[in-house]
Amino acid sequence: MDEARLVTHLSGKRVVLGVTGSIAAYKAVSVLRALRCAGATVSVVMTKAATKFVTPRTFEVLSGERVVTDLFDAHEPMAHLTIPERADVVLVAPATANFLAKAALGLADDVLTTMLLSARCPVIVAPAMDGDMWTHPPVVQHVQTLRSRGVVVLDPEVGPLASGQIAQGRLSEEPKIVAAVDSAMASRCDWQNQVVLVSAGPTQEPIDPVRFLSNRSSGKMGYAIAAAAKARGAEVILVSGPSSLSPEPGITTVRVNTAAEMADALFRHFPTCTVLIMAAAVADFRPKESFAQKVKKQGKTDMVLELEATPDILAMLSARRTSQIMVGFAAETEHILSHATDKLNAKGLDLIVANDVTQTGGGGFGSDDNAAIILSARGEQRDLGLMSKRRLADEILTAVHELCLVRPCQKVLVQ
Ligand code: CTP
Repeated sequence: MDEARLVTHLSGKRVVLGVTGSIAAYKAVSVLRALRCAGATVSVVMTKAATKFVTPRTFEVLSGERVVTDLFDAHEPMAHLTIPERADVVLVAPATANFLAKAALGLADDVLTTMLLSARCPVIVAPAMDGDMWTHPPVVQHVQTLRSRGVVVLDPEVGPLASGQIAQGRLSEEPKIVAAVDSAMASRCDWQNQVVLVSAGPTQEPIDPVRFLSNRSSGKMGYAIAAAAKARGAEVILVSGPSSLSPEPGITTVRVNTAAEMADALFRHFPTCTVLIMAAAVADFRPKESFAQKVKKQGKTDMVLELEATPDILAMLSARRTSQIMVGFAAETEHILSHATDKLNAKGLDLIVANDVTQTGGGGFGSDDNAAIILSARGEQRDLGLMSKRRLADEILTAVHELCLVRPCQKVLVQ
């Protein structure tokens, strides 16, 4: 492990170390020591079962802080809220099969699992258990669920286990665990000093007081990008069309309905942002006339609705940019790359995230997953396979960071 890297990202950070009841609990002691050596402050939270393997006093002496083991802790009655609120990262090592199940289901029957529900920082989990348990279908499923929510679950290592079996189930080695915490801290800080303006969701264009034109966008992609940017240290302003989703705490949110309202909100915030990520599915057309009263059937068998184009918000903002990085989305059903490239050039963008909204296998509108291809104005292409929208959001931010923020885009037209 590169010591310099550790000092860079862990120094001054507060890690919550959760320890659960596995024989590998003794290894958490050296993880704690390594985190402390790297400059982190560590608060230890133990389950009752963990205290059967290692005493809280061991962690107390080495961390220099009280160890919390009880939801009804007399000294800190709201520990499940106050501890994660101060945390930069939560690490659970070792994590038992029982802990994975409770965390995946959102159960809150002890201080550690209750705390996880209020944690808004990155969560890293290092499981340890017998080989047959690690491959048991419910355990596999719980790991998948946690990963799809953005939790980093480290694969246990193959080796001799407490049962005598040689299989996959050993707690990851201490340097690997510390490296995972370090890299969570590194990526957490890379959007500091950025003001990110994100649009999300559909727009609704009224026909009359009860009817509107809209599209299938749920807002999940834009909300995931806003959450990921916030978690990585950015100041985030989210302009959201109608959506049932709630933004994460700390994100300034402006709710709008129509394309015109979305344009107004974005124009207002654009001058102070450093990056615009336009994930909204803005309606391209709206009724030329919106009726004040409900349109009656009056025996008609057909009806013609006259539409007019809405403003292309992204193209208009791009024409007014000063130094902002501009990222668009291309929702396509065919010729994905050529259509996305045309939009990248026509709208004067730095990056475009192209996705096939007809794809089978879980991606597209309303789904929790998505697959995308990122194209840059310099001609770079990154294929991001099917993954959770939350993870894709992080990949998009990483691409924007690497391709545009670290190495400013020189705009060239892509053929
Ligand atoms: N967009 C916008 N204003 C519009 C329409 C789209 O700002 N009136 C933005 C979207 O938020 C997206 C990008 O432009 O970031 C591309 O949107 P998309 O719907 O894929 O393409 P359109 O430009 O609408 O073109 P088409 O409908 O022909 O595919």
